[in-house]
Amino acid sequence: MSHATIHKEFPVLFSEEQIAARTAEIGRQIDQDYAGHAVVLVGVLKGAAIFLADLARCITVECTFDFVAVSSYGKGQRTSGAVKMIKDLDQPIEGKHIIIVEDILDTGLTLCFLRSLFEQHKPASLRIAALLDKPSRRLEKIDADYVGFHIPNHFVIGYGMDYAERFRNVPDIRLMPPDYPELH
Ligand code: PRP
Repeated sequence: MSHATIHKEFPVLFSEEQIAARTAEIGRQIDQDYAGHAVVLVGVLKGAAIFLADLARCITVECTFDFVAVSSYGKGQRTSGAVKMIKDLDQPIEGKHIIIVEDILDTGLTLCFLRSLFEQHKPASLRIAALLDKPSRRLEKIDADYVGFHIPNHFVIGYGMDYAERFRNVPDIRLMPPDYPELH
C-alpha cells in the first residue's frame, strides 16, 4: 500500500461523526459564553486549521479569524525559551475577546508562550479551545477552557495533525502505530 493510503490501517480514535458532534457542543458553549459579543478565533498553524474551520461554522456570535505560526524544534528538544513566533497576528487584539484555537494541547509550551504574549496586548478576554488534550505530557501549568477530548499519550494523526507533514487531510483522528517507519 502506498504512503497516501496506508493510514487506512491505523486504528480510528475519533470518527468524523464524533469530532463533528463534540465540535458542535463546543460551538454552542462558545455561543452561550459570548452572547452579544464578537470573538476573534486565533488559529495556531498548521495543525489547528481544520478544527478552526469546523468550529467557526458551529458558532453564531460575530466572529473573525487570525492565525499565528510558532517555531517547533522537534518535540523532544523544546524548551519554553525555544518557542518563537514565525507569523504574528495580523490585527491588534487589544480590547477584543480572543479564543486561541489549537488542535492539541501537549506539553503546554506553545500555549503558555502564546498566552503570555497575547496577554501583554490587553485583550478583553483570552480563552483557549483545544480539540485534544494530553494532560499526561504537560510541562507547563496550563489548561484549555474548551476541550474536545482528553487522550492518553499516543501519537495521533489526521484532522489537521501530521506525521512528518503527512496525514493532515485524513478526516478522522487515528492512532499512529509506534513501529511506523520514519518519513522525511
Ligand atoms: C502541535 C500543535 C500545537 C503544539 C502543541 O504543533 O498544533 O501547536 O504542537 O504542543 P505543545 O503543547 O507540546 O507545545 P506542531 O509544532 O506539531 O506544528 P503543526 O501545528 O504545524 O503540526
